Amino acid sequence: MDSRDVFPYQVVRDYDLFPLLTEEEVVGRVRQMSAQISEDYAGKNPILLCVLKGAYVFCSDLSRAMTIPHEMEFVKLSSYQGQQSSGEVQEHFLTHIPAERPVIIVEDIADTGTTIKYLAERLRSLGVTDLCIATLLRKPDQYRVEEEIAYVGFDIANRFVVGYGLDYMGYGRGLRAVYEMIDKNLGR
Ligand code: IMP
Ligand code: MG
Repeated sequence: MDSRDVFPYQVVRDYDLFPLLTEEEVVGRVRQMSAQISEDYAGKNPILLCVLKGAYVFCSDLSRAMTIPHEMEFVKLSSYQGQQSSGEVQEHFLTHIPAERPVIIVEDIADTGTTIKYLAERLRSLGVTDLCIATLLRKPDQYRVEEEIAYVGFDIANRFVVGYGLDYMGYGRGLRAVYEMIDKNLGR
């Protein structure tokens, strides 16, 4: 199967997909992150807070490689329209977060940081004091908030990527590797 087969015709016609990270690279790095988090949080019984939709694959692999007790909660946020951050975060739901527990926010990608900042502030307003952030990807040139990210899988250039949970217009989340989307008319 060509990786583009999962996209509708319109997208296939307008974009090329360039492999950025292989499945092996991603899975290997996620295992390292799990090992690190398991070491850092031993005896602490943390909550992994999965930021839907994009982080569902990362969070699932992260959780399954962890070697310590932990629980999983979910929040659904959105800020993107197509390939642009709207700058405004919408919260659709947040499952129960006990304030006394350590929380690890699990994000697919930190772009401007707007989403992470929103969520960190929201959790603090609920009384959470032990809080950190884990993200599979980060675009360092775009990041413009103060929130520190404790665990970063890969720093990438400011390009739009899909796969391993990340989507374009809702498509491409099931791809096992991470691909850069290149507009055929504009190039990179
Ligand atoms: P931020 O609030 O600007 O940091 O954007 C973060 C959110 O935008 C992520 O949780 C993703 O859902 C989405 N996003 C940012 N960059 C990309 C990308 O390259 N591909 C797919 N989604 C992205
Ligand atoms: Mg997301």
